[in-house]
Amino acid sequence: MKVNVSERIYWLGVNDRRKALFENLWPLPAGVSYNSYLIVDEKTALLDTVETGAGGGYVEWIERLLAEHGRQELDYLVVNHMEPDHSGEIGDIVRRWPQVRIVGNSKTFKIIEGYYGLSEHGVEVGDGDLLDLGHHKLQFVMTPWVHWPETMMTYDTTEHILFSGDAFGTFGTLDGAVFDDEIADFDAKYLGQMRRYYSNIVGKYSNMVQKALDRLRDVPVRTICPLHGPVWRSEPKRVIGLYDRWSRYEADAGVAIIYGSMYGNTAAMADRIARRCAEAGIRDITVRDASKTHLSYLIDDVWRCRGIVLGSCAYNAGLFPAVERLTAELLHMGVKEKVLGLFGSYSWNGGGVKNLRVFAEQIGWPLVAEPVELFGRPTPEKLLACNDLAHGMAEALAGAAKHE
Ligand code: FEO
Repeated sequence: MKVNVSERIYWLGVNDRRKALFENLWPLPAGVSYNSYLIVDEKTALLDTVETGAGGGYVEWIERLLAEHGRQELDYLVVNHMEPDHSGEIGDIVRRWPQVRIVGNSKTFKIIEGYYGLSEHGVEVGDGDLLDLGHHKLQFVMTPWVHWPETMMTYDTTEHILFSGDAFGTFGTLDGAVFDDEIADFDAKYLGQMRRYYSNIVGKYSNMVQKALDRLRDVPVRTICPLHGPVWRSEPKRVIGLYDRWSRYEADAGVAIIYGSMYGNTAAMADRIARRCAEAGIRDITVRDASKTHLSYLIDDVWRCRGIVLGSCAYNAGLFPAVERLTAELLHMGVKEKVLGLFGSYSWNGGGVKNLRVFAEQIGWPLVAEPVELFGRPTPEKLLACNDLAHGMAEALAGAAKHE
């Protein structure tokens, strides 16, 4: 198969529909793609590889593309990112082309040695360095922590093509369509998966994403070639805008109500708050039972919505475990720019709302109303307090909308 990004630049990607969990953590209901790219010029260069085992016939594919140009040798392997979903075939490449020069930065080679025992073949590059392939001149842009410390991007100054690593990628396989303009409805097929990929995988490093975007601000980019998902050749500015928005924690004026409930009382409060939010004018409301929704989707809800309402019953004098896992992850990721409502219940002593208050202080999100806590079943007085929480959220979101 020959998929041209441009006349002498080829996409070499594979789809993984078998893996259930990305990084053995994050669900892949629609699979994932691993992309790599080949430039055939006076010198030949492969940019990243694919996950081991995902690319049956990967080396032979490269051989065929080279042969079509009467070539056999692979001169360079550029390693933009060392996570094994992209570096998995390095060993096979080096065995097939033992003279290949691996191009990476000062952090890349240490990780290559750790993972693959390779300590030779290296051409170390720094920020702004150039690699001349003939017609194509590649420039390297250091973008550490998008998503690992060694991550960098490669910019083809000749054709203005950016090989962006994990940045601008998405979950979801490429079902025939490799380029964004070949997909009838990108938003329906990929937007949610792209935001979940961002929030789950890269979101913790949002400040570094902002630094990378600053670095690229004056660079003309015609096409973006990420390591996952479609190649952006018709709307590269759109995906840059999405990453800018997500890495600034800019969110929709919606509310995600996420709760943990054992006997239904905290769940009843969640439904009450949701109904009152609708009556108060909020038009984007999501209610999730934390026990039945994978953490991956809860994190995505938090990224998408500015308003977050967390509910927890007490469990052994602490938070309900599924809610505790979410709050720990949000603290670990350092998520910002949210407004928060809290509620919960207890049967014989507290622990749910008390620990949600601790979370609120630690993460620094302002409360939209006094937290509501039930003993046992909902009472008319506590249900009225739920109304206040919903109204406080509606006011906070209306205020936020005015600022956007
Ligand atoms: Fe797609 Fe950070 O690897």
